[in-house]
Formats: sequence, structure tokens, C-alpha cells
Amino acid sequence: MALWEGRFKKELDARTNDFNSSIHFDSRMYKHDIKGSIAHTKMLEKQKIILAEEAKAIVQELSQIACELENGTLQIDFDAEDIHMYIESELTKRLGNIGKKLHTARSRNDQVALDIRMYLKDEIISIVDLIKKLIKILLVKSEENLETVMPGYTHLQRAQPITFAHHIMAYVEMLMRDIERLQDTYKRTNIMPLGNCALAGTTYDIDRRYVQELLKFDDITKNSLDGVSDRDFVIELASDISIIMMHLSRFSEEIILWCSWEFKFIELDDSFSTGSSIMPQKKNPDITELIRGKTGRVYGNLVTLLTMMKGLPLAYNKDMQEDKEAIFESIDTVKICLETIMPMIETMRINKENMKKAALKGFINATDCADYLVRKGIPFRDAYKITGEIIAYCIDNNKDLDSLTLEEYRNKSDKFDEDIYESVNLINCVMNRNVIGGPSPIEVKKRIDEVKKIM
Ligand code: ARG
Repeated sequence: MALWEGRFKKELDARTNDFNSSIHFDSRMYKHDIKGSIAHTKMLEKQKIILAEEAKAIVQELSQIACELENGTLQIDFDAEDIHMYIESELTKRLGNIGKKLHTARSRNDQVALDIRMYLKDEIISIVDLIKKLIKILLVKSEENLETVMPGYTHLQRAQPITFAHHIMAYVEMLMRDIERLQDTYKRTNIMPLGNCALAGTTYDIDRRYVQELLKFDDITKNSLDGVSDRDFVIELASDISIIMMHLSRFSEEIILWCSWEFKFIELDDSFSTGSSIMPQKKNPDITELIRGKTGRVYGNLVTLLTMMKGLPLAYNKDMQEDKEAIFESIDTVKICLETIMPMIETMRINKENMKKAALKGFINATDCADYLVRKGIPFRDAYKITGEIIAYCIDNNKDLDSLTLEEYRNKSDKFDEDIYESVNLINCVMNRNVIGGPSPIEVKKRIDEVKKIM
């Protein structure tokens, strides 16, 4: 019989029970549920709402249930409606009347709000840890490639010279913002909702601050209706994770390109790529393709949550049970993607020669040629036009800016001297981009050291 027996004259229809039940996915919060119940029990005791010996028995038995679930001696009953009902009924099975006192001054509405907040707090911390690990791997790759010149792209067309370190450090910046966003979401998740009960608080003399302290929350919710029906923090986390996935997906796309014969900038280790069932020559970057693909379902979860909440009247509605599968799937996905991409990046080989070759073709030092003329007193727009004519000449005559003779240069402008070759030299082009945030090895190294200090 369900815990709400009394009002009901019939057992719940079996199919309805299955439909209604959330235990298949909310059972992962069992530890948080028990921890929350223990804090609630201690508060009931302190406020003399239940007796000390009753509290002692409840706390002891709840800890015992946690242990047994942990070591597998107790199996969850998946016919239960949800993890909250299951643990309470297991407690009552063991303690009889005393167990029935646990739910005094509490509702599943504030209970589930508490559990999900506690659960998400833990998950936010572990996602932040994973991102930090990934950042550390990227810092190592960057330090090894401070002078690895490659073309920087716009519109996927070779544009200006940068280094591989500079390129990788762009992802470090994204990931650092991801951490900031998660930490910000953590602040709003770290608010304790217990005591709001079903929707209107309680007439018992409870001590919400005490529960807050026991469970290490920063503050308590300030309106009982909002406290049980707020899922903003779930949506925020789903959004943070979507942005992380977007970053991982962009990086994946670049890795996929870089592995292709068209680029061959990197080679993935055999243990992180797969072959084809028919084409013997193939080595495919499946991991990165899957990350790119899985980003779609994470975006889907964000839209699920936003849509699920948009028409709900205050306060709790059962629709909100749908929050869990969506946010759990996003969490699981981002964690597995972070865990999988790390060793893949750690072991990938960088083909410095091919990056350099690509950098030498495509006139990515054209801006530097124009800038040279500007330094000789020509207005930028004119310098730009002269350089454009030089590039057209090079294309027609199969030359590049390094192999053009001084005479050919002078045919276009008499401002050219021997020192033009220094200005269009690729290494110098990178070195001279020493503005803060630029690709010069000194600047990139500075940033690497700054990031190392905060990580
Ligand atoms: N399993 C429910 C959820 O996830 C728990 C809260 C149910 N409350 C209720 N009054 N039906 O949201």
C-alpha cells in the first residue's frame, strides 16, 4: 500500500504506477536523500518535535540503509514511486511507528528540491574538476608548441600566422569561462529549501537555519512557494553544460579537420581512433565526432527544461519530475566527453612541419607586407592596395612574398628595401604580434603562467 493510504480505497493501477514512478532515475540521489533526512531528523530532535531516542533510532537506521545500498546488500524496490518514498518505507519497515515520524514537518516537494540541489552541487564540483584537468593538459600542449607556427583562419581560409600554442590557449580561455559559469550557478544552487514543506511552510516550530548549517548550504530559500517550485538552477546548469559542450564540439570539429589528409596537422594515437570495416586505410576520429554529435542532445535537454517549466502555475507540479532525466543526461554526457577527450589530446602528435608548410602557403604574411609600407609612411588603404597587387603578381607568377626579388617589389613601390624580407618572415610575423593577447611566444607564455597560477 502506498504511503498515502487513508484517503484512497483502491491500489494504484500498475501501469499508472509505472508511468508515475521516477525511481528508475532518481535512485541515483539516494545518498543525498538520506543525508537530508538525517539532518531533518536532528533538527526535529533539537526542536523537541520528536524524542531524542526516536531521533537516534532514525539516524542510525538511515545510516544503515545507506551502507546497505552502498555495498549492495539492500536492493532498491523499483516498484516504489520514487527514491524518497522508497527510503521512508524501508525505514518504517525496520522501525515501525518511529519510522513514520521522519516525515513530520516535511513534504516530498521540499524534500526533492533539497535532494536535487545537494546532488547538483556535487556534480558541479566534479565537472569543474574535470575541466581543470583538461586545462592542465592543454597548458602542457601549449608550452610544447609556443613556436609552432601555423596559419590562423577566418572563414576557414588561411589568414594570418599564429602558433599552435596560441590556438590551443583560445580553448583554455573558453574553458575558464565555463568554470566561472559553473561556480556562479553553484551559488544559486547552494540555497536550502527544506522547511517550505508542500508549498506553505509549516506550523511546527522548526529551525531551518540549523538544517542549513548541518547540510552546509550558504543560505535558505525565502519564499515557500518559490522554494518548492524553483528549478532555475537546474536550467542554469543545463545551459552551462550546453556551452561547455559547444566548446568541446568546436574543438572536436577542428581536431577532425586537422586529422584529415587535407590538413594533417595532427595525428591521433591508435588507441583513440577507429578503423573502417571495409576501407583498410582508414583511421577515423570517432571520439570527436561523437562529442560533436552528443552536443545536440545536451542542447535538447536545455530546451526540454525550459519548455517543461514555462507554463507551470505555482507551486509544485508533477511536470517538474521531468527535470531529472534531462539534467542527469546532460551531466553524464559532459563528464564522459571530458573524460574521453583528455587522454586523446594528451597522446595526439603534432605535425609541426605540416603546420609550417601550410603557414608558408596562402600569403598569410600579406598584412605584414602592408604594415611594412605603413611604417614607411604610406597610408594603410594605399599600402593595402599595393600589397594586393603584389599578391596578384605572385599568384600569376607562382611566387610568394619571401621569394619575390627586391626589383619585383620595387616595381610596385619604391618604398621597399632589403628589410622587407625580415618583415614578411613568418617567424618574425608571429614574434612581432606581441600585443597583449597576441600569438607571440612571449605573450602566450605569460598567459600560460597566469593560468597555471589560478588553476
Ligand atoms: N518524484 C517527485 C519529483 O521528482 C517527488 C515529489 C513529488 N511530490 C508530489 N507531491 N507528488 O518531483
